[in-house]
Amino acid sequence: MKETLIICKPDAQERGLIGEILGRMERKELKIVAMRMLTINRELAHQHYEEHVGKGFFEELVQFIGRSPAVVAVVSGEADTVAIVRKIVGPTDPADAPPGTIRGDYGQAVTENLIHASDSPESAQREIALFFPELSNL
Ligand code: RTP
Ligand code: MG
Repeated sequence: MKETLIICKPDAQERGLIGEILGRMERKELKIVAMRMLTINRELAHQHYEEHVGKGFFEELVQFIGRSPAVVAVVSGEADTVAIVRKIVGPTDPADAPPGTIRGDYGQAVTENLIHASDSPESAQREIALFFPELSNL
């Protein structure tokens, strides 16, 4: 899959790290082909994170993801963009994320880990359709 979806989460907006995160994508020669800023409300959080509904951390995640505006973008590359972007992002828990990854360089807490990236081509397709329904007609 040549496209994936990223979300610069509210902590990235609050800390002024949106440019840094998008810049890392661009310096890897990935292209930002669609982008919007919005506050992710409860309903949208449920749709986006449907696989986590009912888990112990879900309510905290919903509160966090809607706390400030987020920047949602479609990132396009030459090959397996889903895997490449996950590498740039790093593991979920910043304590496990090596230096050089976004979470490793800027994060400390597992909930507030700065960025979402789709975890599979199927997720990417579903999430792109959720945030950018207009693209599915292209
Ligand atoms: P994401 O979906 O945001 O890209 O993160 P991920 O794939 O690396 O991790 P995932 O398991 O999908 O978890 C989604 C987000 O939920 C928060 N989380 N908190 N407190 C906790 O134990 C916990 N576990 C996950 C994080 O914000 C994580 O990115
Ligand atoms: Mg995930």
